[in-house]
Formats: sequence, C-alpha cells, structure tokens
Amino acid sequence: MLKADSRQPTAILPIAIFAGSRKQRKMKIDVIALFPEIIAPALKTGILKRAHDANILAVNLYNLRDWTTDKHKSVDDYPYGGGAGMILKPEPIFAAVKALNPEETANVVYLTPQGIPLTQGFAESLSLESHLILLCGRYKGVDERVREKIVTTEVSIGDYVLSGGEIAALVLIDAIGRVLPGALGDYESAHIDSFSQELLDHPHYTRPAEFAERHVPEVLLSGHHENIEKWRYAEALKRTAKHRPDLLQRLELSEEDIAILKEAGL
Ligand code: ADE
Repeated sequence: MLKADSRQPTAILPIAIFAGSRKQRKMKIDVIALFPEIIAPALKTGILKRAHDANILAVNLYNLRDWTTDKHKSVDDYPYGGGAGMILKPEPIFAAVKALNPEETANVVYLTPQGIPLTQGFAESLSLESHLILLCGRYKGVDERVREKIVTTEVSIGDYVLSGGEIAALVLIDAIGRVLPGALGDYESAHIDSFSQELLDHPHYTRPAEFAERHVPEVLLSGHHENIEKWRYAEALKRTAKHRPDLLQRLELSEEDIAILKEAGL
C-alpha cells in the first residue's frame, strides 16, 4: 500500500505556489466512520453544498460496519495486554480502504489527536490532492497495523480529545472545501482572510457608524484606501501580538512593524 512518510513538519505553503495551482479541478473525499450521520447535515449547507453543486467536491460517507463479515457486525475488540477501552479491528478498515482505493493512489488520512496539527497551510496543501480517504477513529483508536500499512497522513485538529474522529473529519473537509478553486464566490475573500496571511484578521465594521456607544474608526469612513490598508495591517499586527504572539515569532518584523507594536505597548 502507498505509504509516504507523513510525519514531517508541514510548512505553511508559500502563497505564490498555492495560487499558481488554482486550476478548476474536482476533489473526491471518502469518509469511513462509525457515525457518518454526524457529518452528513453539514454537507447540505453553505460553501460545502455550493462546492458539491458546482461539481468541485464530492464527499462520500461510508459506515465502517458495512465492511464487517460477522453476524454481530463487530468493529472493535479488547486490547492485547489489557487495559481500558476498545480498539477498532484492522480487518474492516483494511477491507474498506481496499474497496475505496484499489489503485492505492489516495492519501489515507487518519484523524487522531496524535496527528500533525491542522493549520491553514496544511489544509491548503491537502486541497491540492484529488482523492482523500478520511478514516475516523472511535474508542481507543485503531489497531496499530492500520497506521503502519494503510494510513499515509495523520491529522489532529487540536490538543484535546474528541469522542471520535467524525467532527475532526468535518473540520478538515470544511477547511479544504472552502479553498478549492470556485468554492467561494470570491476567491480573494478566502485567501486574504485570517491565517492565510499569517496574521490574525483585522477588525471589521458595518453600518451603523455609531452603535452601543461605540463609533466606527474614522479612517474607515474616510475613503482613503491607502490609510485604510495601513490601519488594517496595524490592527492585524497588534491583534496577533496580543492573542497569538507565537505566530509573530515566525515572521520577520520590519522596523515599522516594531514601531507599531511599541506604540501600542506590545
Ligand atoms: N479524534 C479525537 N480527537 C481528535 C483530535 N483532536 N483531532 C483529530 N481527531 C481526533
């Protein structure tokens, strides 16, 4: 089976490379889960529905139980060596992946808290694939031979433990689906948003200009585009310094940036 070493740090893709590969294409995502019904409703609304209707994204949900062969349709068993919790048996998973990936060309992604942390750059690089198989764990996770022989990439959506991989898979599908070319009406709006520029997003306002005793910053009403861009950049920089200083550490700050932060007492 295809087995790439996926345990390398996944750098944020340079935007120029990502932008250069934005030809219209179709992506297929097969999901193998014990509770696919958790995911189904979210595919019927918003951007994921639009991507499906525009023939950009096909998400197929499969129940792992359909690949069991015993009369109880068992998917789990006790761990060798003892201990609490059940383990997902390897046989149904091997059979499911074999059926869905006969050519062994798909990237088989296992959702697990032990995986590579999901970032915008990671989602964007996965969005360049044409076929993903998402494997959702439950209980204590999968038999290790599934990871050794079938799984090509392990993804975590954060340092916490969910009761199963379905919600994590949905998060991944959403993050991928919205960056597929044509999924958003206006591609720009996906690509200049928070994290795509490696800074948190700046504040946004809409009408009315005064509300809850707070006035919209004058510069945004000025019509002076250069000043508006400068203000937005400075606010994004300050917000990132306040809430996510770890992100700033990866960037090379200019003298102007440092002056902005200093003036704000950051
Ligand atoms: N399954 C359970 N917790 C998870 C997490 N944090 N990320 C991905 N898959 C998971």
